[in-house]
Amino acid sequence: MSDYVMGRTAEEYERLRRQAEVWAPATGRLLDRAGLSPGDRCLDVGCGTGAAMDLMTARGGVVTGIDVDASLGAAVRGTFVAADVEKDDDAVPAGGFELVYGRLILLHVGDPAAVLRRMWRWVAPGGMLVVQDYDMRAVDGYPPSSLVDEWRRVFLGAYAAAGRDVGLGARLPALFAEAGIGAPDGTDVTGRLGTMADSAGMLAATFRSIAPLAIAQGLTTETKRDAWLSDIDTASRVYGDHSAMWPLLIGALKRKPAAV
Ligand SMILES: C[S@@+](CC[C@H](N)C(=O)[O-])C[C@H]1O[C@@H](n2cnc3c(N)ncnc32)[C@H](O)[C@@H]1O
Repeated sequence: MSDYVMGRTAEEYERLRRQAEVWAPATGRLLDRAGLSPGDRCLDVGCGTGAAMDLMTARGGVVTGIDVDASLGAAVRGTFVAADVEKDDDAVPAGGFELVYGRLILLHVGDPAAVLRRMWRWVAPGGMLVVQDYDMRAVDGYPPSSLVDEWRRVFLGAYAAAGRDVGLGARLPALFAEAGIGAPDGTDVTGRLGTMADSAGMLAATFRSIAPLAIAQGLTTETKRDAWLSDIDTASRVYGDHSAMWPLLIGALKRKPAAV
């Protein structure tokens, strides 16, 4: 099922839900900027557990989600299409949606410009393409934390070794150009400064999710993973008021010209 670097476990799906709650205001703001009208056909590419689909439904959209993970069909509210967006041009009709949206999907594909081009093809004339993706280079601790440094070494290292661009969010304008879409009409940058107390759980969940890949890549071992997980749990209590910077969530949007 594609070369997905994160896990496919109940714990990972729960992590996605919690992460989606954090970013819901940023996504809602971008959807409002896109100007959804009741009845608009909306497509969520790489929909995961369907949290962004719910935000579109709440704005009157008629929503379809695509994900390569067919088991997510049971989790989402709305129409679900199991498809690999790296391969399947015809998973949904060309020009079939007033909004084509994707959050944290381009980070996970081998050729993000090709997937963007495909998403653009699915946008109806006069419709909008909206994407949001991470710049994970922003993740940091303050005061400096050796545990966050180790998270960066292992997590970002595993992504990079798998051929993924950990700064992809910041590259969105260039990707739009490469995909032949042209410069975005606008961008949006959202950050989150948490504390070790409220962020250690997310650091631990992402570390656990990437660990099988990182161990296979030789970036860590089971023993080191377990020691790090124990240390971050302690840090969440002992250094609970220290700062933890999350990845930046970067959005870009573009309206397709109306048919003449
Ligand atoms: C990090 S999750 C983000 C989920 C959701 N968009 C969100 O923001 O909560 C990435 C999702 O993209 C899906 N995905 C990864 N590669 C894919 C592909 N080639 N085709 C379709 N879906 C893919 C994964 O199965 C996963 O559900």
